[in-house]
This record gives sequence, structure tokens and C-alpha cells, in this order.
Amino acid sequence: MALKDQIERRRTFAIISHPDAGKTTLTEKLLLYGGAIQSAGSVKGKASAKHAVSDWMDLEKQRGISITSSVMQFEYDGYCINILDTPGHQDFSEDTYRTLMAADSVVMVIDAAKGIEPQTRKLFKVTAMRNIPIFTFINKLDREARDPFELLDELEKEFGIGTYPMNWPIGCGVDFKGVFDRERRQILNFNQMHHGQEKIKPIECELTDTDKLDSLIGEYQRRELVDQIELLDGASFDFDLEKVRCGKLTPVFFGSALMNFGVEPFLESFLKMTTSPLPRATKEGNIEPTSENFSAFVFKIQANMNKAHRDRMTFMRICSGKFERDREYYHIQGGKTLRLSQPQQLMAEERQIVNEAYAGDIIGVFDPGIFSIGDTVCDTKNKVTFEGIPTFAPEHFALIEQKDTLKRKQFVKGVEQIAQEGAIQIFHEPNSGMERVIVGVVGVLQFEVLEYRLKNEYNVDIIRNNLSYQHIRWVKSPDIDMKSLNLTSDTRWVQDFKGNDLLIFTSEWNINWALDKNEGLILEDFSKE
Ligand code: G4P
Repeated sequence: MALKDQIERRRTFAIISHPDAGKTTLTEKLLLYGGAIQSAGSVKGKASAKHAVSDWMDLEKQRGISITSSVMQFEYDGYCINILDTPGHQDFSEDTYRTLMAADSVVMVIDAAKGIEPQTRKLFKVTAMRNIPIFTFINKLDREARDPFELLDELEKEFGIGTYPMNWPIGCGVDFKGVFDRERRQILNFNQMHHGQEKIKPIECELTDTDKLDSLIGEYQRRELVDQIELLDGASFDFDLEKVRCGKLTPVFFGSALMNFGVEPFLESFLKMTTSPLPRATKEGNIEPTSENFSAFVFKIQANMNKAHRDRMTFMRICSGKFERDREYYHIQGGKTLRLSQPQQLMAEERQIVNEAYAGDIIGVFDPGIFSIGDTVCDTKNKVTFEGIPTFAPEHFALIEQKDTLKRKQFVKGVEQIAQEGAIQIFHEPNSGMERVIVGVVGVLQFEVLEYRLKNEYNVDIIRNNLSYQHIRWVKSPDIDMKSLNLTSDTRWVQDFKGNDLLIFTSEWNINWALDKNEGLILEDFSKE
């Protein structure tokens, strides 16, 4: 198949949600359609069952959770689909944000009884930064749910995004009768639902066909549906694919992932509406995915996946061209030509060596410690450099020191290396060197990972004192004198290891106070440097 065709059939997306909204269940159903797994329960078995895709670290096994994000590739209807999985529990990490940098679109799963929840909010914010398409799957309609109009209203008001319901739920919970497909004017009837891969046959039904509707969903619900669709057709946003493609309008689907209801129509519409890999910005200008020149960037580094090897695994998103296993490529930041060692793609519990891969795909390579987050690997002749991945604001902070002062060297080395991988962020107070290391993380589980890795890989035990800071901001004012800032007594000035100035705060109130009292102070909650 020609390069262009290979790339155009690729769809690379991430699924985001608040824990328990149904992300894993939906992913699993999508994989079932792709024939990538044979049975439900293969993606995540909580405490008891089979372990998930990304259970490489002992720590993950102990906790019965999946810390790391992984990638699953499968074929469906001529498309080659890459799903970027994001950690699905409360303690998500900066990896989750970075994974969104590798996606071309995002599917947001929302629990119909709960609406927008905190983690959805955070992930949406990062997604919206990139203006990529966002699709919404409102899940769990087989249970009691909130009013669908209210849910749409919440999305529009909180996220400032237009919504376009592709289908409309007919009741919910015990009264759930199915969904009405607005475009095709069809009813997908919940009573006819099947599990597994079987298709539910939609029933064509105009809203004017009263008798048919009454026999399908009953008179009461028919009246309600007709009224609601009328309201929707009159009052909602018009469908505009251009707006969908730049993340200004989210197509909304209602369904039940658990019951496998509405998942297939969702997948089919989604694949048509979302984009194939998009051009990406480099310092030399945009690079087209179908360019003959290979390019990729590092968005995730995973240490210690295989205890027998000390190597790390580095994940790259291919942005243009074709990757070939035996070719030489150029690592911009290292300034070296290299062959990527044992390139792999991941599928559920299996890892496969890949001989070739295309723009849109993710490959993992063994890394002796040369790559950092955001690095570019490209063609040896036509070099490009991607604009790095932003550093996102940590929300939890701790002061750490080694228990045994004789192990100072290992401690510093370990902390610096783990930070360089992007597993934690480290800060220090100006002029204090590495005496007092402040560690910042997006999810508290990262602290545990740090402790575990320092002990297992560097043989260092640490004492950790959690700090009450909750917010960090990069100081972006070009000429501000940090020493003369007027700040509340519990606000602290720190620097990252690149020497950037930052402020850490215990509350939003203190941030506003700092902005109020210091003219010209510019603060940002992520950094692109
Ligand atoms: P997550 O990855 O977003 O954290 O959510 P996950 O898919 O694990 O789903 C969380 C819980 O919600 C699971 O139940 C799952 O079975 C249930 N669930 C997911 N989709 C639906 C749906 O459409 N309808 C209903 N009624 N439930 C749904 P659990 O009891 O916590 O876990 P499990 O023991 O079933 O694995």
C-alpha cells in the first residue's frame, strides 16, 4: 500500500475520563470490534483477574492498577486504529497529559449520572490547548441518568465548546429504550441488544410514524422523544465538520459501554469524522504526515519494564513518513545517528517487534538512557526539530532527603535521572543546590514510584515530607525582580533544574494575591521551555 494510503487510514486517539466513567469498558468494546481481544476482561481485570496491558512494574501489580499509559493498535473496516490509553485511576500522572500530545483526537467518556468530574476537567483543559477534535460518549444510560439537555448544557458552559448530539437517548435506567439516530432517523432499540460482536440492527423510523414508534418505545416515551428532537433540531448548534475538526464542536453520543449499546455506531461515525494524522509543528515549519521524511517525537519514557534489563523504554509518536527497522535515523538532541533498538508495538499483553510503522503509529524502543521527553528522531538528511512537550503544573509537593547521608551521590543521581525521564519534577530554592529537593507531581502515585525506584534501582531510602502547596506557576514576566516580589508568607520562590523561576502556592487565593500586588507579574500553569 502506498505511503499516503497507509497514513490516511490511521486514526490515533486517546480516551479520557474521570475514573469509573467507563473508559476501560469502552476501550475493551472497541478492541472487541477490532478483533484485537477475544473476551471482555482482557484489558483490565481489577484486583483478581488478568493484569492489564501496562502492568510492567511490580508496584503496579501490588496495587492492582495500571500506572502507565500504553498503546493498542487494531484494524477495523480498513482503518488502522491506535488507542492511546491513559491511566484510569485517581492517581493519574503527568504521563496522562503527555499522552494527549501524541493523539490526533480525543474521546471523552462521561458518566451520564455524574456529568463532568474533576479529572475530565483537567484532561479537557490540556486537550483544548491543542485544538484537536473531541468526541463525547455519554455512558451508562442503562442506569439512572441526568437530563440529557442538562448534560449538554454543562459541557457547553463549563468547557466553552459547542455540542452536537449525534443520537438522543430514549429514557434511561429501567426505562431505557434505546437511542434515536438524528441523521439516519433510525432507532437503535435497547431491547434488541446483544453482547459481543453482533450488530444490533437499527430500525428505520421517522418520528411521524406514530404507530411504529408506539410499538417500539410506548406512547409516553414517543411523545417525549418527538418533543425533545423538535427542541434539539430547533435550538442546538448546526453540525459543522470544520468546527469538529478544530475542537470547537463536540459530537455527542449516548450509550452504554457495559451493555455494548451504541458503541459500534459511535465507532463508525467517529472514524469518519475524526482526522487521519495531522501536520505537526517543527521549528522549521509544519511537517506533513505524508512527507517521505521520517520524523517522530518522544512523549513517554518508561523505566524498568523488564527487571532483567535496566534499560528504559522510550515511546515515540511517528509524525511523518515511514519507520523502517534497519534504517539509520538521527537523534537531534543527542546529535547522533542511531538505529532504534528492538522497535516494538504493544498489543494487550503482547509486544511485537515492528519492521515498519507509519505516521500516526507509536513505537517503543529500548533506550540506554539517551532520550528525554520531547526529543526528536528524524531522517538523517532532512532534519527537523519538534517543539518540545510542555511541562504541566504539578499539584502535589514534597520535600525529600536521603535517610543515609553517605548515599548522597546515589540520591542525587537517582533523583536527577528520574526527573530527566519526566517521572517527577524537581525544584530547589534559589542558591540551595540539591540540599533540599522539592519534588512536584501531578498524581501522588508518582511519589510512590519515586520511592520504589530509588530503593530498587539506586539502593537509596528516602524520607518524604509532604508539603501543603497545591499550585505552581511559571513566572513568565521577562524583567521581574524575584527578590522584591510582594507575596504571602506561605508562597515560595523555587527554580526548576533549567533555572526557570517559579512560585508555589497553597491556594488559588494566594495566586490572585500575587497577581494583584505585583504589577507586570505573568504566571502560567504550564511551561513550554
Ligand atoms: P474507568 O476505566 O473509566 O475507570 O471505568 P471502567 O470501565 O472500569 O468502569 C467502571 C465501572 O463502571 C465498572 O464497574 C464497569 O463495569 C461500570 N460500567 C462501565 N460502563 C458501564 C455502563 O455503560 N453501564 C453500567 N451500568 N456500568 C458501566 P465495577 O463494578 O466498578 O467494576 P467491574 O467489577 O464491573 O469491573
